[in-house]
Amino acid sequence: MKIISFEGFEYSGKSTQIKLLQNYFKKNKIKSFFTREPGGNKQLEKIRKIILQSDFDNLSLILFFFASRFSLLSSMKNNNLVVFDRFFDSTYAYQKFTSKDKLLILNLINQIDKKYIPNITFYFKINKKTLIERKKMRGQKNYFDKKYASHFSRIQKNYDEIGKMKVGKRKFIIIDASKPKEIIHKEIVENLKKCKLIR
Ligand code: TYD
Repeated sequence: MKIISFEGFEYSGKSTQIKLLQNYFKKNKIKSFFTREPGGNKQLEKIRKIILQSDFDNLSLILFFFASRFSLLSSMKNNNLVVFDRFFDSTYAYQKFTSKDKLLILNLINQIDKKYIPNITFYFKINKKTLIERKKMRGQKNYFDKKYASHFSRIQKNYDEIGKMKVGKRKFIIIDASKPKEIIHKEIVENLKKCKLIR
């Protein structure tokens, strides 16, 4: 199984790129399965709603996200190509506050079967200026995004940190989220070809 994951802060254009890639796969008849976290299957989508509308404490959130994650992985069929809209990097980026959290999250990541470690992760790095502009244009998002809106620098720093860590053999690609969407889409497709994930 080949795995691609997408990561980034709100307004980074992550969802737009996932849609563009989905269309590209359709057009080129590339068989693939798209999922998202938290949730990703019928049963877990119910839990997604609860998690994202909740006011749980941080330790509980770490465990909820990983519980949902392990359940999703165990329910997954043997697909040729799987695309994740958020995966374990999100927990490290959003829920890592203390060194204790860091150890716990890294231990849990370590519990993930190697076959589910992404071949490649695209991280959409957004700068503050672009973030503010897009926020003005599109308005505030959901409750969970609001909860973390003021955590931009911390989350960005955590993403940079996990991006530098060795997680299996995965490649961590940093994308400049301020670039035009067509250019980013090209960059993604080129990277997938270079890594032989698609032809
Ligand atoms: P979503 O509406 O999908 O936001 P986005 O469009 O930004 O992906 O909500 C997902 C939210 O859940 C987002 O704020 C990030 C958060 N999240 C965590 O905090 N930890 C996690 O492990 C995951 C998977 C998501």
